[in-house]
Amino acid sequence: MEYELNRDQIPAHVAIIMDGNGRWAKAKGLPRTAGHVEGVERAKQITEEATRLGVKFLTLYTFSTENWNRPDAEIEAIFNLLVTGLEDEVFMKNNVRFRVIGDFDRLPLSVQKRTRECMDKTAGNTGTTMVVAISYSSRWELTQTMQKMARQATEGKLKPEEITEDYISSQLQTAFMPDPDLLIRTGGEYRISNYLLWQCAYTEFYYCDTYWPDFHEEDLRKAIADFQHRQRRYGKTGEQVEKNEN
Ligand code: FPP
Repeated sequence: MEYELNRDQIPAHVAIIMDGNGRWAKAKGLPRTAGHVEGVERAKQITEEATRLGVKFLTLYTFSTENWNRPDAEIEAIFNLLVTGLEDEVFMKNNVRFRVIGDFDRLPLSVQKRTRECMDKTAGNTGTTMVVAISYSSRWELTQTMQKMARQATEGKLKPEEITEDYISSQLQTAFMPDPDLLIRTGGEYRISNYLLWQCAYTEFYYCDTYWPDFHEEDLRKAIADFQHRQRRYGKTGEQVEKNEN
């Protein structure tokens, strides 16, 4: 099915919680890792589609802080897939800039090396920025940021009244990107799972039952078409928004 998209209202930042790899594999009688293998392919396809549509930032929740509690073999498989699945040629062909957020120092050296190479190689690309959240959780990020600001205050570099919303945003790891306009969660769960909590204050949420390995280009277009029918009110009344009042 084709979805009519208004090219002037493409969300600048789409964040995705890619859920359902394990259940997709189980339903097919396959090991969970087969779902992750397919999940990497979808991540690449969806990044290419986001590029075609003109999405400026695509943030993919790939490995949460809580995912460290999974069996070692599954963690290893996910990291191996990241190392082999990140292909510079695909990024260069599509003018994609690659970035990572999360607890970088906690990652295996092979993942640090590979992601660093991708970031360096694609730093000058000007199309979509693909942000991969690895060993990331929002509470971890907020805790780090609060500790950083407390240090700035102790050193006399930050006054309490200088701690504004904009200042906090500027100190987060995500300072280089705008807040998400649209958050998509696949896999039929209705929760945010410690993802971009500060940044999603006014984000539009879209949930779908489709497991991530089955989420194709037309599903992204469907989510964006749905987003384009929303009215973002930011606490105002619908009438105020229609009249474009400040
Ligand atoms: C969720 O499925 C997926 C993950 C925990 C992470 C794995 C994601 C990938 C391998 C794709 C990312 C790739 C790149 C290149 C960015 P789940 O295992 O939680 O599924 P379940 O809820 O059905 O068990």
